[in-house]
Amino acid sequence: MIVHIMIMVARIKVEKREGEEAMIDIHSHILPKVDDGSKDLEESIEMAKIYLENGINKVIATPHYIEGWDNTFKEKNLEILEILKKALYQRGLDLDIYLGNEIYTTMDILEHLEEGKASSLNNTRYVLIELPMFDIPLFIEDLIYELLLKGYVPIIAHPERNAKIIENPNLLYTFIKKGALAQLNLPSLEGKYGDRIKSTGETLIKHNMIHFIGTDAHSKDKRSPRVKKSLNLLKLMVDKETYNRITYLNGIKLLEDEEIIVDSPIEYKKEKNFFYLLKTKMNIF
Ligand SMILES: [Fe+2]
Repeated sequence: MIVHIMIMVARIKVEKREGEEAMIDIHSHILPKVDDGSKDLEESIEMAKIYLENGINKVIATPHYIEGWDNTFKEKNLEILEILKKALYQRGLDLDIYLGNEIYTTMDILEHLEEGKASSLNNTRYVLIELPMFDIPLFIEDLIYELLLKGYVPIIAHPERNAKIIENPNLLYTFIKKGALAQLNLPSLEGKYGDRIKSTGETLIKHNMIHFIGTDAHSKDKRSPRVKKSLNLLKLMVDKETYNRITYLNGIKLLEDEEIIVDSPIEYKKEKNFFYLLKTKMNIF
């Protein structure tokens, strides 16, 4: 006689605060052994626990996709994702994970998406793109136009970390006006990448230039999904409606491939501080 043993696993759910929805991270390197993110399945499981403790219950795994690199393609990533999902289910960890990529900006992004090598976010119209750290390619506006023309919506990953946008936040204003969206790395708000990135992040948020949040988590330790502190800082910066929109509502629409209507970005105007006024008076410019 075959005896079926039912193993009851207590579901470990996200820690939510009263009146708040759980959050959605659209930028994570939680997939094990794919890129420079999680080093193995055990680390991914630990990361999943941290996500739930920090109020996040939906995550889009976005391994790097860089043209010319030895990338793991979409089909293989889906297999790895299934292994991870099974492992989380067996441990009662109630974290939903979807597949995407963080695609490094080249003019050929479209080709890689259409060949089925790179993945949009949860197979939707939304595509997470990564700018170089210190520059912005001259073709970026053509790329945005091209992607939109083919029905994709580019989301610029962590613009607050790009040196040119740090110098001039209105570059992002222009890209949003052309139809792009943007995702902020939560650790930027804590100053984890330095003061200038922190203040650029704050500027972009205050000027309606941020539409999603991400942890950009790579591990369970140094670059982990421990983002409670950053979320508290974000909450002090925006009203409740905006907070819900960028931590949850826009993410839900994204996962369901719905159109996301955003508030118009506000153009950044450099503050005219004492030294600026003095220089103007002395005609130093
Ligand atoms: Fe990333």
